[in-house]
Amino acid sequence: MKPKEPNLKTARISPSLSISYRHAGEMNVPPLVFLHAFPLSSAMWQAQIEEFRKDYEVFAPDFRGIGHTSDFNDKPSIQTLANDLAIWLEEVDVYRAITLVGLSMGGYVALEFARQFPEKLRALIFCDTRADADSIEAKKARGEMISLAKENNGRAVAQKMLPKLLGETTLREKPRIPQKIKEIAAPNSGENLSKLIAAMRERRDSSEFLSQIKVPTLVLGGGEDMVSPPEVMAQMAAQIPSARHVTIEGAGHLSNLESPQDFNSAIREFLNSF
Ligand code: MLT
Repeated sequence: MKPKEPNLKTARISPSLSISYRHAGEMNVPPLVFLHAFPLSSAMWQAQIEEFRKDYEVFAPDFRGIGHTSDFNDKPSIQTLANDLAIWLEEVDVYRAITLVGLSMGGYVALEFARQFPEKLRALIFCDTRADADSIEAKKARGEMISLAKENNGRAVAQKMLPKLLGETTLREKPRIPQKIKEIAAPNSGENLSKLIAAMRERRDSSEFLSQIKVPTLVLGGGEDMVSPPEVMAQMAAQIPSARHVTIEGAGHLSNLESPQDFNSAIREFLNSF
């Protein structure tokens, strides 16, 4: 049994599903929900939780197989993760419309959630993510990552991914960040990570869906992100009726960890705009 972090809560949804999550801030204020990237956990949102707990009720759940959240019990899919989120929100008594923030894999889940549960949304923030499905080459690379993950742990998976997760400025000037990313990923089991990779590989193309998003939306990404570069994010924003696009210069794919102040300022400015 993994040791429990003090600020991590767990909601038991059913005999086969528990979800761990971080929770801070006041109740009866607008809820802000953060969805984490791969191969990380809700621990990646520490700087955002500290900032937004002042005036929002902040939640950051862990996806299947991460933290104390139950493993997938059938075929891994992004739809399952979006569905879990809807059930979990009721379990933790969030009935008000939420502002949903998803970074990369978290963004894939946020998109799926927006498609399935539009009535539960107040606003959307897509960070360093994309709406299209994996290309044939990307699917092939996923197969290789699945093999690597199955034989290793979260630290090794993060180590392998670092060159594409971080921008060149961070790699050059912020030596603490790679270490921090490996520390956040370290508790994750390789076997569980391999299932999340499979879920990402099978995700559907949501490009056509973007035009149906009705809530205020921020599309936010690092200027040095190689996984979801600024051009991809700009195209995404252009397809969403009421979206604004902000690029964080000097940050890569994990923009919230690389440039937390700029990331938080962009979110705050957006939240103050509606
Ligand atoms: C992530 O940061 O969640 C992953 O890079 C997403 C992906 O591999 O598609």
